[in-house]
Amino acid sequence: MSKITIAIDGFSSTGKSTVAKQIANHLGYVYVDSGAMYRAVTFYAMQNGFIKENYFNAEALVANLKNITISFKFNPQLGFAEVYLNNRNVENEIRTLEVSNFVSKVAEISEVRQKLVEQQQHLGKQGGVVMDGRDIGTVVFPHAELKLFMTASSETRAKRRYSELIARGETVTYEAVLKNVQERDYIDTNREDSPLAKAEDAIEIDNSHMGLQEQFDKIMQLVKVTLKKQV
Ligand code: CDP
Repeated sequence: MSKITIAIDGFSSTGKSTVAKQIANHLGYVYVDSGAMYRAVTFYAMQNGFIKENYFNAEALVANLKNITISFKFNPQLGFAEVYLNNRNVENEIRTLEVSNFVSKVAEISEVRQKLVEQQQHLGKQGGVVMDGRDIGTVVFPHAELKLFMTASSETRAKRRYSELIARGETVTYEAVLKNVQERDYIDTNREDSPLAKAEDAIEIDNSHMGLQEQFDKIMQLVKVTLKKQV
């Protein structure tokens, strides 16, 4: 059977990566977390002093993009590929609220997007890929056979992200997480280059009141219908 490309876009903390991993594992496809790549670039900028509190030297980051190598390595225990920055596993470090507070500013930079989109297209060129992000169905894979657009209320999303961060041992408040979710929604939707938008042919899924199993079943149904249409 031919392998399709599944593009999953949507607002922050809509559970895109959770369902993308489930679908990829079920189909034996590759899962690519494009947000992790923007997070890794942000983490690099923080580590190299280009980002500090209330300070962001975007030119210095752009000048250093050539020194950034991002890769993924499958971790069989976790069942998904972890992200590496210059050959160092940064899967945990990129998930902090501190990184989240800067990532959308980094993701606005066209040079950053150009570099990462090129790599994303390369990773998915054989098909058989599930990729989640903000511009996957619109820019990275405009010809993806199945495009999903995930939404949920900002309060629901902030609650989910708050629980995740607390479970990871971070000291954060719900209010700070909600503020971050809303700020990122604003920047991601309003930036000039590749803003977050629902592709015309994407199917919208509001999972505010959906359990994980129900969401998985619904999306697998859409996958089966899409696969049947392939020759
Ligand atoms: O997991 P979460 O919903 O918090 O976000 P993410 O997927 O890790 O993405 C982090 C940030 O990277 C987003 O808020 C965007 O600013 C940026 N991003 C993007 O611009 N384009 C993508 N394809 C993926 C992420």
